Amino acid sequence: MTGGLLAHGRLAGLDEISGVGVDAARGGFSRHVWTTAEFELREWFTARAARLGLDVETDRNGNLWAWWGAPGPDAVVTGSHLDSVPGGGAFDGPLGVVAALDAVARLQASGFRPRRPLAVVVFAEEEGSRFGVACLGSRLLSGAISGDAARALTDADGVTVAEAASAAGLAPEHLGRDDEALARIGLFIELHVEQGRGLIDLGSPVAIASSILAHGRWRLRVNGQGNHAGATGMRERRDPVVAAARAVLAVEQAALATEDARATVGRMRIVPGGTNVIASAVDAWVDARASSDAQTRALVADMEARVQEVVAGSGCTVELIEESWSGLVEFDSALAAQLVGTLGGVPLLPTGAGHDAGVLSGRVPTAMVFVRNPTGVSHSPEEFAEAEDCIAGVEALESLLRSVL
Ligand code: GLV
Ligand code: MN
Ligand code: MN
Repeated sequence: MTGGLLAHGRLAGLDEISGVGVDAARGGFSRHVWTTAEFELREWFTARAARLGLDVETDRNGNLWAWWGAPGPDAVVTGSHLDSVPGGGAFDGPLGVVAALDAVARLQASGFRPRRPLAVVVFAEEEGSRFGVACLGSRLLSGAISGDAARALTDADGVTVAEAASAAGLAPEHLGRDDEALARIGLFIELHVEQGRGLIDLGSPVAIASSILAHGRWRLRVNGQGNHAGATGMRERRDPVVAAARAVLAVEQAALATEDARATVGRMRIVPGGTNVIASAVDAWVDARASSDAQTRALVADMEARVQEVVAGSGCTVELIEESWSGLVEFDSALAAQLVGTLGGVPLLPTGAGHDAGVLSGRVPTAMVFVRNPTGVSHSPEEFAEAEDCIAGVEALESLLRSVL
């Protein structure tokens, strides 16, 4: 019973959204929260869920919930997110949403009658690509970020979350911890494409997650002196771009010196940003991850010391500002073992990628299913999963849902 799931060699749901948010300039997809592409995905999800007879509601934080049966309590919730990184792949997020809808369709087609309510969820702004804080929807829901802190976040054009939420039809004053929505979740299972090489050599199309590295985001603010590119001699400058370049190398050195650590500068903003202008400031965002909270904190402290050292004497100043933090996640081991058993002994796999399931794991029983990615690449158009592995993922999710419903 796999034929109905496929179209053009991939899951039909992924095929249906393959034209949404295509980013011709970067390659891949750019589907940022509360933009035209993401609104289109929300509409697609609502229509898809309606075809299964599910009732869709948007919670106060912009997360979508499609209910099979009356909403909670003790609901089994599955799903993921539809937003993407800039120029992202087709699977990170959408695979978990499409697989959830397909698993529900298969349960319904088999005449299965759940004894608990079930919801398919789409969390908002999981990547933090527009407002900078990853998993914003699940953080707000669970109280990991306050409504006030979220409302004040801005995108690259200076639009605040409050303004964007209002334009999306939400009441921004109601953003924040949602105990009612949280209390309905009895169990959350997120299926996700594997984002590294973890499953390639394990001989299994799927795995159950064991843990997520401790990670966070910091902004390096480098201040210098704006000036004229032609009129200012090389020794008269206080150029923050040169200082930032040294800082980036120091960040790399700090990560290389810490076992199993990762640090990335994937985004920089040069102020004001003109070819014939020596900049006045640079913002460089650092994503840092390591295998425990303490190691990640130590990595960041080392990074900061190295950055200060290399910037000293340049005439520039630098400060490191924490923008978000996600402590180490160790998924409920008894639940993970139960799910591994239900799937006949699939591997347990740690990950370095963050997820809404990680944010929620401190509040509700949570588990994740990973689907093999033969490229081992993610957050890039090269991200991939074979159709048969995606179907194995849907089948695994269906079995898990069957076993807990
Ligand atoms: C999300 O994919 C993250 O790990 O940042
Ligand atoms: Mn991602
Ligand atoms: Mn994801």
